[in-house]
Amino acid sequence: MNPTIKNFLKEHAPVKILTAYRAFANGYPALRRAALKQARRFERTYSKPSSKGAEQVQARMIFFAHQIEKGLSHMHFRYGFGKRPLASLAKEMKMYRAAVPDYRSSQSYHCALAALHEYVVRHEGHEEALQYVKDLFSEETWHEIQTEQSNLGGSIVISRDSKQNNANLPFKELSENRHSIREYADQPVTYEELLPAVQLAMRTPTVCNRQPARLHIILNPETIGKVLAYQGGFNGYKEPPALLLITADNAVFMAPQERNEGFTDGGLFGMSLLLSLEREGLAACPLNTMMKEGAEEATRKLLNIPDSENMVMYVAVGHFPDEVKTCVSHRFKASDIITVIQ
Ligand SMILES: Cc1cc2nc3c(=O)[nH]c(=O)nc-3n(C[C@H](O)[C@H](O)[C@H](O)COP(=O)(O)O)c2cc1C
Repeated sequence: MNPTIKNFLKEHAPVKILTAYRAFANGYPALRRAALKQARRFERTYSKPSSKGAEQVQARMIFFAHQIEKGLSHMHFRYGFGKRPLASLAKEMKMYRAAVPDYRSSQSYHCALAALHEYVVRHEGHEEALQYVKDLFSEETWHEIQTEQSNLGGSIVISRDSKQNNANLPFKELSENRHSIREYADQPVTYEELLPAVQLAMRTPTVCNRQPARLHIILNPETIGKVLAYQGGFNGYKEPPALLLITADNAVFMAPQERNEGFTDGGLFGMSLLLSLEREGLAACPLNTMMKEGAEEATRKLLNIPDSENMVMYVAVGHFPDEVKTCVSHRFKASDIITVIQ
């Protein structure tokens, strides 16, 4: 060996070993440690059925009230729907009253009351269903439900005509009038109709402009039916004419600390896409891809999703029917979620 190289190696070998070790330690072990730490923090703080913290109970109360809103917004109303979510909502509202002494001034509590109020009003004359709800609540809460005046929960009606001018709406109006639509006109959606919305969503910012979002467009009704059966959050609705799957490609990321970035960038892409679809006058609903292992594996196989891609969300797309109902899905006030750090 050339003596100069030999001397160089002799002198630098420890540095090389150190560099190699650092590269190794910053690789898989760091990824594992960070992922485990993240998993433990999630486990400590998420809303388990038994957690009694006000935030956790509120999340479950909103979740079950939203199930009722979904049932109320079905085009083909099913009398007596939702026995299980009604019972769960009653339980969570009780827990909420225990966790939040000032529950009467909580908008989330009124969302639940308003959804239940609409449930009761629309079941007038259906004594069995009404009796079922009444039996779930104390006399005081039953009175609150009956006398609830707010429109913070329940269903609203959207018409196709109201969407004709969407391409000319200012951002504030477009954003305020977008709602998740789960029932569509009986009309196919084509690739060509989707493309302008996808092209506009390409303006979404991403980390260092690496653009991890990928879009899988599913137009085959049989495949849509199969993947939505795995997805599980669209039960009771007819299959949408188009289903889009947003994924994020891990191949664009460069370090363990970027492991969640695809969900951020993919989520931002999803929001842009929803607004772009709305601008194009197409009805849409984001759907989660947070499936259990078996369902996720089956979906990946069915759709042939590359190993490098994480699923971020689906978007169901269709044309607006003449008239459709959807959930109020009331939002917190901005001040409810702000912490000002001095
Ligand atoms: C990531 C994500 C996942 C969602 N998953 C579902 C779902 O599985 N089923 C469903 O019916 N709605 C789903 N939704 C729609 C929400 O219920 C809806 O966005 C929320 O209630 C707010 O209502 P809006 O979209 O009408 O403003 C999802 C929304 C997002 C953003």
